[in-house]
Amino acid sequence: MKKKIVVLFGGESSEYSVSLQSASAVIRAIDTEKYEPVLIGITKKGQWFHFRGEVEQIENDTWQQGDITTAFLLPDSSIHGFMEVKDQSVSTHRVDAAFPVLHGKNGEDGTIQGLLQLAGIPCIGCGILSSALCMDKDLAHKIAASIGVKVPRSIKINRIGTKDQIKEWVKSLSYPLFVKPVHAGSSFGITRIEEETDLLKAVAYAFAYDTEVVLEEAVDGFEVGCAIMGKEKLIVGEIDEIELSSGFFDFTEKYTLKTSKIHMPARITEEMAKRIKETACQIYRTFGCSGFARVDLFLSKKDEIYFNEINTIPGFTSHSRFPNMMKGIGYSFEKLVMELIEQEVENI
Ligand SMILES: Nc1ncnc2c1ncn2[C@@H]1O[C@H](COP(=O)(O)OP(=O)(O)O)[C@@H](O)[C@H]1O
Ligand SMILES: [Mg+2]
Repeated sequence: MKKKIVVLFGGESSEYSVSLQSASAVIRAIDTEKYEPVLIGITKKGQWFHFRGEVEQIENDTWQQGDITTAFLLPDSSIHGFMEVKDQSVSTHRVDAAFPVLHGKNGEDGTIQGLLQLAGIPCIGCGILSSALCMDKDLAHKIAASIGVKVPRSIKINRIGTKDQIKEWVKSLSYPLFVKPVHAGSSFGITRIEEETDLLKAVAYAFAYDTEVVLEEAVDGFEVGCAIMGKEKLIVGEIDEIELSSGFFDFTEKYTLKTSKIHMPARITEEMAKRIKETACQIYRTFGCSGFARVDLFLSKKDEIYFNEINTIPGFTSHSRFPNMMKGIGYSFEKLVMELIEQEVENI
């Protein structure tokens, strides 16, 4: 009997569309001789459906007009799967594992991972605590700092405040500043500001995405990423580097690379790559990550490594950064997806 793997896609998150692209690539890479993918889509409004159509319909976001039936994972661990409602009759279906290919809120933040834990279904990727911690840009920085990793100076606020109040709150920080929602991704809600006059607008913009906002000093340098897989024994990909020509790595740049460039491997010395990998592994373990994650760091002009964030479900199309970094050490996209599934299901 083939093992059934639920692939969760979409999600009630500002990164719904990004998930559709990642999930399509993951679904195509699953070896159907070995596994039976079961596709469960979550709409932007949070409705759950079992989808039986073609992957293209996920990719071009027409899956909701396709062959769908209401279905949701059940917390009842004796069912170990999902319930489906069809023509007013209810059926339950056992599955072997789940691969949440969801980005951002309600998917990458520990919520789905919690549901899977209650359901007793092995989850591919990080568990509840590490997912939740990595989603919180403020707490994640505090934890990284506690193990001696440098983090940019920052403050967190939980209300917009008046112009004068914000000025007072940030007076210990120096410009340029990044203003960011605490729990978001794909650069949604983020502004880089050079001076005080832009402060209020940037803060209001970030609050449109979240109830908490961080204001953080810009690191003068460039961003590097480190792809890591595994739990006890870690597999570490090549380091990549983001070369910006202006501004920052915003949503448009991330998905079009109009003016920026990703170098894989990064244009750094072998010794620096080794230092970055060691720091990234130390961070991965401290946060209790498992399965896989991409650790993002900054390398300052003084060769100092700063922590930026951990993406527990990083972009996962065949041209995304995590798969590319793993390609650098010999993993094709298909081999990578199968390895991630197998590390979780080989013992069940
Ligand atoms: N402190 C910082 N210094 C320099 N650049 C930053 C800083 N914080 C964020 N950025 C820029 O903004 C981008 C998005 O910020 P990030 O915290 O990674 O949020 P997201 O979770 O949306 O990717 C980064 O890729 C980087 O280009
Ligand atoms: Mg980022």
